[in-house]
Amino acid sequence: MKILVTGGLGFIGSHTAVELQNQGFEVVIVDDLSNSSLEVLDGISRITGKIPAFEKLDLREKNAVQDFFKRHSDISGVIHFAASKAVGESVENPLLYYENNISSLIYVLQELEKKDDARFIFSSSCTVYGQAEKMPITEDAPVQEAMSPYGNTKQIGEEIIKDVAKVSDINAILLRYFNPIGAHPSAEIGELPIGVPQNLVPFITQTGMGLRAELSVFGNDYPTPDGTCIRDYIHVVDLAKAHVVALQRLIEKKNSEKVETFNVGTGTGSSVLEVIHAFEKVSNQKLPYKIVGRREGDITIAYANTDKANAVLGWKAESTLEESLASAWKWEQKIRKVFAK
Ligand code: NAD
Ligand code: WQD
Repeated sequence: MKILVTGGLGFIGSHTAVELQNQGFEVVIVDDLSNSSLEVLDGISRITGKIPAFEKLDLREKNAVQDFFKRHSDISGVIHFAASKAVGESVENPLLYYENNISSLIYVLQELEKKDDARFIFSSSCTVYGQAEKMPITEDAPVQEAMSPYGNTKQIGEEIIKDVAKVSDINAILLRYFNPIGAHPSAEIGELPIGVPQNLVPFITQTGMGLRAELSVFGNDYPTPDGTCIRDYIHVVDLAKAHVVALQRLIEKKNSEKVETFNVGTGTGSSVLEVIHAFEKVSNQKLPYKIVGRREGDITIAYANTDKANAVLGWKAESTLEESLASAWKWEQKIRKVFAK
């Protein structure tokens, strides 16, 4: 069965391509390389023993998307990762985000709509919940006013998919990721942030390598046990596996609604200081850090209730925070050796 993975050379897409190939799916990756590199293909093939088909294509080019689907009329499902994802950049350049994240989605759906039976999985985000009132967050928690154009593209994307599914043969699953971290345990693929990392874990691993002098902890005056913000950090391999079971659900037509929504997290919240201390344990070194002021737009606490994914998808995150951080650390050490050559 042929599955299109858009953005499949990116962080989460590449790990999902591995899990799909491991389960016997034929993977076709489309990526414009705007936030990834061709070498990721080699990593995927070293892990799985198979090179996925790849086309460099910008999904904002409607004609190119149409042409791609004509040439690949046997695609049975799409996992749509391709998007721009930097929250701060989306505030500075909202049109870039609306154009990329929305038009790419529309062009792919326009081609899928033409099919008799189409399966679609969408990368959504816990950002749609904003600062939820109740923890852990269930899927029926209200979607809050978006805090950034990036977050808004996820909310709008979910709405577009629901509207299109009503009038087409598309069945879809929206996966709301919490905070993906880590790398494949082989260290063949992982996260490759461009420039200064905005996310906590890549900043920590780069600081651990001495590339950054110290980590700034954004605020320790939040109403949490140690004063730092709490998130649900999920291993990227666990997250990748959730896509495969979601796809299988659609293939077996087990979905109870045309569009289903699942939280994908561990169900456990960890504070910034807890993440730092867990990293210190797995890397066997002290991490230099200082407490600074709050980062604008940060919410205090977000962690998932994963009962729905556990019960309905039969999926559960398996890795501990320490295992996730150990894989991120192994990857960081590997890429620094490669770059040093
Ligand atoms: P990523 O940037 O590593 O991967 C996205 C890939 O899409 C990149 O390889 C990029 O080159 C490609 N791409 C972007 N625009 C494209 C276009 N117009 N045409 C073709 N390819 C294009 O990001 P990621 O962390 O793997 O995230 C994947 C998806 O998950 C995104 O939709 C993101 O918004 C969503 N998400 C990510 C997180 C996170 O923290 N990483 C959390 C929640 C949701
Ligand atoms: C985690 C915690 C920071 C860096 C972002 C997006 C969200 C989603 C995931 C896509 C926070 C603190 C961070 C640093 C720090 N992406 N921190 N020092 O903010 O939960 O979510 O990525 O959908 O939309 O907003 O993740 O990794 O940036 O931060 O203290 O140098 O670490 O304040 O509490 P966040 P993050």
